[in-house]
Amino acid sequence: MVEAQDGRYQTLYRRSLHDRETFWASAAEAIQWDKPWERVLDDSNPPDYRWFVGGELNTCRNALDVHVESGRGEQAALIYDSAVTGRKKTFTFKTLRDEVALFAGVLADQGVRKGDRVIIYMPMVPEAVIAMLACARLGAVHSVVFGGFAANELAVRIDDATPRVMVSASCGIEPGRVVEYKPLLDEAIRLAQHKPERCVILQREQAQAAMVADRDVDWVEARAVAKPHDCVSVKATDPLYILYTSGTTGQPKGVVRDNGGHAVALKWTMQNIYGVSPGETFWAASDVGWVVGHSYIVYAPLLAGNATVLYEGKPVGTPDPGAFWRVINEHKVSVLFTAPTAFRAIKKEDPKGEHIRQYDLDSLRTLFLAGERTDPDTLHWAEDKLGVPVIDHWWQTETGWSIAANCVGIERLPIRDGSPSFAAPGWDLCVLDENGKEADRGQIGTLAVKLPLPPGAFPTLWNARQRYLDSYMTTFPGYYNTSDAGIIDADGYVYVMSRTDDIINVAGHRLSTGAMEEVLSDHPDVAECAVTGVADALKGQVPLGFLVLSAGCDRAHADICAEVVALVRDRIGPVAAFKQALVVKRLPKTRSGKVLRGTMRAIADGQDWKMPATIDDPAILDEITESLAAIGYPRN
Ligand code: COA
Ligand code: AMP
Repeated sequence: MVEAQDGRYQTLYRRSLHDRETFWASAAEAIQWDKPWERVLDDSNPPDYRWFVGGELNTCRNALDVHVESGRGEQAALIYDSAVTGRKKTFTFKTLRDEVALFAGVLADQGVRKGDRVIIYMPMVPEAVIAMLACARLGAVHSVVFGGFAANELAVRIDDATPRVMVSASCGIEPGRVVEYKPLLDEAIRLAQHKPERCVILQREQAQAAMVADRDVDWVEARAVAKPHDCVSVKATDPLYILYTSGTTGQPKGVVRDNGGHAVALKWTMQNIYGVSPGETFWAASDVGWVVGHSYIVYAPLLAGNATVLYEGKPVGTPDPGAFWRVINEHKVSVLFTAPTAFRAIKKEDPKGEHIRQYDLDSLRTLFLAGERTDPDTLHWAEDKLGVPVIDHWWQTETGWSIAANCVGIERLPIRDGSPSFAAPGWDLCVLDENGKEADRGQIGTLAVKLPLPPGAFPTLWNARQRYLDSYMTTFPGYYNTSDAGIIDADGYVYVMSRTDDIINVAGHRLSTGAMEEVLSDHPDVAECAVTGVADALKGQVPLGFLVLSAGCDRAHADICAEVVALVRDRIGPVAAFKQALVVKRLPKTRSGKVLRGTMRAIADGQDWKMPATIDDPAILDEITESLAAIGYPRN
């Protein structure tokens, strides 16, 4: 258990672990239940733990209807601001409730019922949020797929989630180009074994999607004839959504979120972690395709009666590095949540913060950062230029909300560079050594959470119970293995250092090097390959591919490298940001055949590295150093 100086945070943290059930039962009173729970926590079958067993509720009712009923109907709920089209639109709780009820009617007309899956593949438009909440209203399970993924990735998710219906749009808009989604959707359905019955398509004016007869339904036409649908009660333990995230192979993990624990935990975090009160405006500058978007663009702010900003644009280039400050000023944002990479992009273009000075940012109280470690330079720049506390907090798709944070709503504790501060209430966090023993303070090891996980964390992986157990619960029995390495110091501050698996973090996006290697191996001239994440000043990390060519291949290396770059973009998508590969004669390996990716990464990053004792042929590392130097990587 993490210790900090006695105070409000510490008292609450202790209570959350020692008197777990009372703690969360009290938080659950803020939720409207259709049927009260029988047990706060069912711990009879470890490592399966279930929260609010016997309870029934509807998440959409709690996000929208309850606020209309309690007099917040005319208050802003969803503020859409599109920097790429210039469109802005505000939905009040009442208008959003009405739109969602109507779209739930559309989905019901297409045959969607409680428990059915609906895949949502959409850009950052209000209809994406409306579709998510409409699924929740029906008790259907949504699975949002990020727009930057290619058709192949979408197909894998279609086969795993087996949706009855898909919801998509004609296009997304990236700076300088319109990305047509519909051809990607059609291709994904062609590739998938499972065929959804219907696709509801939102036509945007920037591109007209060709419709497939007897399958595709126009959003506007279907809405015109639909009737509003009421909320369907579901069990607290029923799934609300599946969100696919990168695992160590090409098969993504379908993280499942339930309804009851999720609603309770997320509503609790708004006041206690983020320190926002109902009625204030909260902005998570992320995408609905990521967990941050699920939790903090859609569910948590609405559950807590906050206005939430849905921003379609980038931190820079849409049109300039003042975009974030314009949005904060125009919509009176109290709390901003984004990834450090967004701030690095802004800082690069506006190092002196001149755009910041053009706006009155008086409404902004706190900046929260997550998705990757906040480097001290970015932290200090943001603190200095914005004059508000900058809070790094650590979490994962699996956890749904932060494992470690400086909970400003409870008690703001001193910030330390490079640390997301303390374990959040509910998370019994520790560092384990390789034998599964608790490491001494200050010693690096695997960050692990003693079970049970708090409400809101994932109960399983969709269709993959054994993978859930193997990936998270087996290495350290009784603990959740976060696969992040880290330290807890003598004062209880947590430091998250790096992943212990083959996951890399590119511009705050979680990507699997294993999945990229699977694509590279498919190239006919590639005999062997390895992908590793190398340091990048803007994106934190970017993938770099090492290729060993098949014997006898005499094609130009540059051509093969360009082909594998195109292959990754085509199979995984532009989000992979896979832009560089190089040909090497051999890959460095241990005597047992394990590729030394970490050593290759250290060489590319110009870090000090030690010759691994188990390497089979040390000369290979000189060859790798030379090959990297030839494409511009500094020799260390
Ligand atoms: N649909 C289609 N393509 C998309 C897309 C979408 N929804 N989102 C991103 N892409 C494409 C981009 O156009 C880009 O393509 P390119 O290779 O042709 O340039 C590629 O995917 C990579 O996108 P992105 O990661 O956004 O990088 P970028 O270079 O365009 O912008 C940043 C860099 C730092 C400005 C941007 O990554 C950013 O704002 N990050 C914030 C991070 C974030 O929101 N993290 C979520 C967790 S909080
Ligand atoms: P995702 O599941 O996409 O949210 O990615 C989760 C991973 O991102 C974590 O396992 C960490 O490796 C990394 N991460 C997220 N937030 C932080 C943070 N504040 N500090 C360090 N790493 C982070």
